[in-house]
Amino acid sequence: MSDLSTQSAVAALYADDHNSEFLEDLKLLARIPSVSFPGFDPKEVERSAEAVAALCKARGLENVEILKLPGAHPYVYADWLHAPGKPTLLLYAHHDVQPAGREELWKSPPFEPTERDGRLFGRGCADDKAGAVAHTSAIASWLKTHGSLPVNVKLIIEGEEECGSDNLEPFLEKYAEKVMADVIVLTDTGNFDHETPSITVALRGIVALDVTVRSMDHPLHSGMWGGPVVDPVLALSKMIASVVDAKGRMTIPGIYKDVAKPAKASEASLKSLKLSEKTFREQSGLFKGTKLMVSPKDILRSNWYIPSFSVNAIQASSKKDCANIINDSVWAHMGIRVVPGMNPKKTLADLKKHLVKNAPWGVKVEFSGETASPSWTTDTDAPAFTAARTALKKGYGRPAVDMGCGGSIPFVGPFAKALKGAPALLIGVEDPLSNPHSENESLHLGMFQKAIASAVHLYAEIAALPSVK
Ligand code: BES
Ligand code: MN
Ligand code: MN
Repeated sequence: MSDLSTQSAVAALYADDHNSEFLEDLKLLARIPSVSFPGFDPKEVERSAEAVAALCKARGLENVEILKLPGAHPYVYADWLHAPGKPTLLLYAHHDVQPAGREELWKSPPFEPTERDGRLFGRGCADDKAGAVAHTSAIASWLKTHGSLPVNVKLIIEGEEECGSDNLEPFLEKYAEKVMADVIVLTDTGNFDHETPSITVALRGIVALDVTVRSMDHPLHSGMWGGPVVDPVLALSKMIASVVDAKGRMTIPGIYKDVAKPAKASEASLKSLKLSEKTFREQSGLFKGTKLMVSPKDILRSNWYIPSFSVNAIQASSKKDCANIINDSVWAHMGIRVVPGMNPKKTLADLKKHLVKNAPWGVKVEFSGETASPSWTTDTDAPAFTAARTALKKGYGRPAVDMGCGGSIPFVGPFAKALKGAPALLIGVEDPLSNPHSENESLHLGMFQKAIASAVHLYAEIAALPSVK
């Protein structure tokens, strides 16, 4: 019988048999330090785009192109469009990565992918080069076994997700037609755990900014001047502290007012997913004795559907130069994860207003680097979701769950809109132990294999639908 599901079973077997080859593809990409942050060499992101493009060609994709916009890190485009009358999938991942962080804390070098304990360690091994390779591997498995795919695919591998996707708008203006598709498949999220295939149905948005506080034009000897002179580090500490109360809840007036009740699919997933405090503590590495900021029953809800404030970096002087001084200035980067119902621009304005209002002693407060991107949420009624569940069950041998996500992917909302409301399937390869953005990031290798098998099945399941929407 040569029906679609038999064909996809054959392709999935191929994927399993060739997993070590696909892992080599990933290692090749992960050796390139494609950090998209300002201050890092943008040539590395270009080199990474070229490596992704070469991989696309090697794995049988066509019309491979590096898409450049002025001032933007390169995207990679590739397609395979020989399934007339069948749906077109837009497959997304990103090839840029976060900085490595503190090199001395890595157990193996960040840009030398290393296998250990069933995982592949290295910056980008999970977030999100594994996403890119999951797509190319699933495509290759079909092309090698059948010479064709049951659907049309367009691949977009972004080069500036980690620095905020600043050029999404011009990108969409220029390429909306090129990327038009019926379904979006984003491989840049996580699974509830490494055994439980998951569809992410909500993302938080993020507003963020740099804050600089100054009190004078140069640092002063803290003995010679301490007492009468304003310490800007103390001033900023008070400003930051004013954002939360003793329980860690934000105090910005009205900040929780617009928070929407989670949508139907979200509420159902909150009800069915169980995460104990013990497991959460093990996964996060939170010390015994360090309190949870919410009651254990609210862990998932507060992470996915309630806004949260964090301070990502503070700098005044440095460990190396730490002297007995009163600093002239201090800098911090901070942000609020926003949820459905909230207007990110308003949240940003409210945060700034609150900081200024709580700035003591007449210090100068300056803001820069402001960003605001919205949350995203979906219902799961479209038939494409049914196809995804069947495919995940086949790939993982377990039923899929819906989950929320505390993180953000600026790409999703604008793309789903540009694609006229195409359903977006967020199916990823990270798990709670992946440590993205932190030292010792890693990918669970067993899960990677199952994720590729699921992607193989997904093409067949979508091809079999009478309609995707
Ligand atoms: N892959 C993440 C998004 C994510 C986070 C998925 C947590 C699953 C769990 C993505 O690469 C990311 O880090 N996004 C940034 C967006 C920001 C730069 C606008 C984030 O969430 O900080
Ligand atoms: Mn990512
Ligand atoms: Mn990331």
